[in-house]
Amino acid sequence: MSTRRSDIIRFYDTRFNTDHLLAEYYKGSDFYNFGYWADNTRCQNEACENLMEKLLGFIRQKKGIILDVACGMGATSRYLLKHYNPSEVTGINISTKQLETCKANAPGCAFLQMDAAKLALHDRVFDNIICVEAAFHFDTREDFLREVCQVLKPGGQLVLSDILVNKLAARWHPRIPKENWVTDMEEYRELYLRAGFKHVEVVDATKECWKGFYKHLWSWRRKNFLAGEIKLPAYAKMILRNLLAKAGLKYYLLVSARKA
Ligand SMILES: C[S@@+](CC[C@H](N)C(=O)[O-])C[C@H]1O[C@@H](n2cnc3c(N)ncnc32)[C@H](O)[C@@H]1O
Repeated sequence: MSTRRSDIIRFYDTRFNTDHLLAEYYKGSDFYNFGYWADNTRCQNEACENLMEKLLGFIRQKKGIILDVACGMGATSRYLLKHYNPSEVTGINISTKQLETCKANAPGCAFLQMDAAKLALHDRVFDNIICVEAAFHFDTREDFLREVCQVLKPGGQLVLSDILVNKLAARWHPRIPKENWVTDMEEYRELYLRAGFKHVEVVDATKECWKGFYKHLWSWRRKNFLAGEIKLPAYAKMILRNLLAKAGLKYYLLVSARKA
């Protein structure tokens, strides 16, 4: 297994164990994404649900069967049950540990251990595919787009949220393949067309997702620091990590792409 792949698995498998306050911040929802922050959004869990609503809002007819790519700990698949029956939802993740949590969070859905860039699924099976905040990790994002286009039925739709980093971050980030770097949103959109998608909509949601997330996370962390829940060395480490992340991120995007 490649170092990057095992690093990604370790990072997400241990995220909440190594940072109990973070699990509390997500209110035990088992979502793990930035969410979508409107003016009246009160907490992270609500922001994560907003993000699901924004992405599902691209899909006019929420019926048939749906694939949840990089389904995390199953909170996204569980949310899909608002619109779909469990037998209509399949989730995939590279981590077997996270998939165990998925089974508890979304009983009755199918969960499979699989790499998003090498799908072992039949062609033209899914009506829709969703992928929340993970495509930047895939080796490569372009392979992933080709694969999902293949397993979608004609007329099927892919909706996802994705992160574009700057060139420097693409070079050093241990969990992002260098090949996933694109210069701008136009080049990013081209990837979808090259993979076989026809109608592609890319929405810049950097302010609502990434900036909203950091603003709320930091006011919460500051409160915990002042209350003595976070000690100074840990707080300083968080600030440093945050500055690095801030310097590396360019766009947070919401995408809808339809197969012809
Ligand atoms: C930021 S989390 C998002 C999880 C979930 N979608 C959510 O919004 O709560 C990224 C997820 O992508 C998964 N992942 C990363 N690389 C993957 C790959 N190549 N194939 C499948 N899953 C992958 C990780 O294990 C992790 O669960």
